[in-house]
Amino acid sequence: MQTHFSDLLVIGAGLAGERVACEAAQNGFTATCLSIVPARRSHSSAAQGGMQASLGNCAMGEGDNSDVHFIDTVKGSDWGCDQEVARLFADAAPIEMRRLAAWGVPWNRVVPGKSFYFKGGEKFEKYEKEEKEGLITARSFGGTAKWRTCYTSDGTGHAVMCTMDNRCAQLGINVFDKKEAISLIHDGDTCKGAVVRCLRTGRLEVFLAKATAICTGGFGRIYKATTNAVICDGGGHVIAHDTGVVPIGNPESIQFHPTGIVPTDILVTEGCRGDGGTLLDVNEERFMHIYEPEKAELASRDVVSRRMTEHMRAGKGVKSPYGEHLWLDIRHLGDKHISTKLREVDEICHHFLGVDPRTQLIPVRPTQHYTMAGIRTDKDGAVYGLKGLFSAGEAACWDMHGFNRLGGNSLAETVVAGGIIGAKIVEFLKGHETTFDTASINDAVNKQKKRIDDLVAGRCGHLNVYQVRNEMQEALMKGCFVFRNQKDLEETVQTLQGTLEKSRKVGLVSDGAGANFELGSALKLEGQVKLALCIAQAALQRTESRGSHNREDFPERNDQDWLNRTLAYWREGADMPELVYEDTTPLFELPPGDRGYGGGKIIPADAKYVKERTVKSPVTEIGKKK
Ligand code: FUM
Repeated sequence: MQTHFSDLLVIGAGLAGERVACEAAQNGFTATCLSIVPARRSHSSAAQGGMQASLGNCAMGEGDNSDVHFIDTVKGSDWGCDQEVARLFADAAPIEMRRLAAWGVPWNRVVPGKSFYFKGGEKFEKYEKEEKEGLITARSFGGTAKWRTCYTSDGTGHAVMCTMDNRCAQLGINVFDKKEAISLIHDGDTCKGAVVRCLRTGRLEVFLAKATAICTGGFGRIYKATTNAVICDGGGHVIAHDTGVVPIGNPESIQFHPTGIVPTDILVTEGCRGDGGTLLDVNEERFMHIYEPEKAELASRDVVSRRMTEHMRAGKGVKSPYGEHLWLDIRHLGDKHISTKLREVDEICHHFLGVDPRTQLIPVRPTQHYTMAGIRTDKDGAVYGLKGLFSAGEAACWDMHGFNRLGGNSLAETVVAGGIIGAKIVEFLKGHETTFDTASINDAVNKQKKRIDDLVAGRCGHLNVYQVRNEMQEALMKGCFVFRNQKDLEETVQTLQGTLEKSRKVGLVSDGAGANFELGSALKLEGQVKLALCIAQAALQRTESRGSHNREDFPERNDQDWLNRTLAYWREGADMPELVYEDTTPLFELPPGDRGYGGGKIIPADAKYVKERTVKSPVTEIGKKK
């Protein structure tokens, strides 16, 4: 058995994982990253629009600062986030953007002089200041008071990913691709590494470490319709949750992006609307301003997805063989803008739709995009339940996003949280010694060997892996999409309970040998269905509407009863998750209030409770303004 040792093992080599590893390596620790695909093909590289940081360099970003960014983030989260974490993030983001520039990211920069921008289909003039020439510029994104999203055209993730991977090479970090962690090695108290399947040979290997970090991104692929790559299948969540002691935080908190293209659900960036694109209905008329007079197309994603769905339900959708959709219109932005700042969108439209966005409309609809849900950590990134285990990026519920993440805040989170949590891991590693017990390592490996042997020999059953997975994906689409209600959620839970049984009885059509995809899918299927059950059960229990969690039967945001975070544990031998709740945030810098968009009634929290928790902060006055 091939066994590898390092101070830090990072499972996942996207932006969060590699940024964490850089911090360890810069401080003299050995770091190893594992990735299913070559690191540069991680899903981070698919991120288009940009990263939010309050640099305030561009004309429309003037007056921005980390207080304003913090307020936007908390409002965006519908007061569902941990405000201490949102504050850490907003303060550190500008520093991290400049660091990335120093590492080589080719940010778009301020060009002084007069230029034009579009808002709501209308053209306006703006002036960029001479003295700001060459500083990192920003574009507009949803739910923000200022233009704050730093970008490299619409290939931001790709540009930053290449830079970060180069940095890892410079620092001598071992980045292994085609390696999939299929189980953590732990004793119920401390994590010691992972059992890993080599996706080239099919052989098992052992990776031992003093600290392990799970940075595997989101689990969008447990839904049928998602912008996520096939690798975003929850592999990291499954192995953490399977320990029985690690909870998933806020599983019901799932983001739906307004503009997935139809029928493939590939993302076209929010930057299209940020740069002035509009949403049109079947009559080719704008509608978002009717629902959201102030922010229109640039309300937060949860609100835009909800309004689009309402509009389609009102009969204003475009019928197509692939279901109903609306249109995204960027024609007025013109050839130069599309060819330079939206060139990936241009390519996606050409290759996947046969559409020229300069002259034609883009068919779009809300689709699963992001998991605010994740492996629950504290503000140092330490995972609840196991010492030595950390998590960062979309995989984690560090909880700066609460019930809705702002566009541009996740790509920024990967590097900001990666830096902060990486530094905390360094503190943990300093002076930390551990022992590795060969008997328990062998046990962990043998358990995985047996699972594989049983599947290959057909000892579990003969149900088709992909059919069972499909059942899970369809169930989530029905009950846990943009709108939810008790009846659909109960049905979804019931369906998924049956799917869970089936997931334990799958067999392989192939021989399972070597780098077998079917085997890999079968190995994580039961864990994925458990995640799906966590989503549905937590959504059923949360009898309010907050951010992306919209209950048609409980339309109010209920701060009286639900200013809390769900923790979903899956105890050994259980057939349903155990849900417990913890306070959303230890302290309010911004006490709960109205977001200024999205409408809806709020049932206020107990005034004494809020007062006792509210700290003095410069944001309190700014936050009262919409
Ligand atoms: O629309 C986008 O470019 C996506 C950005 C994000 O999810 O933050």
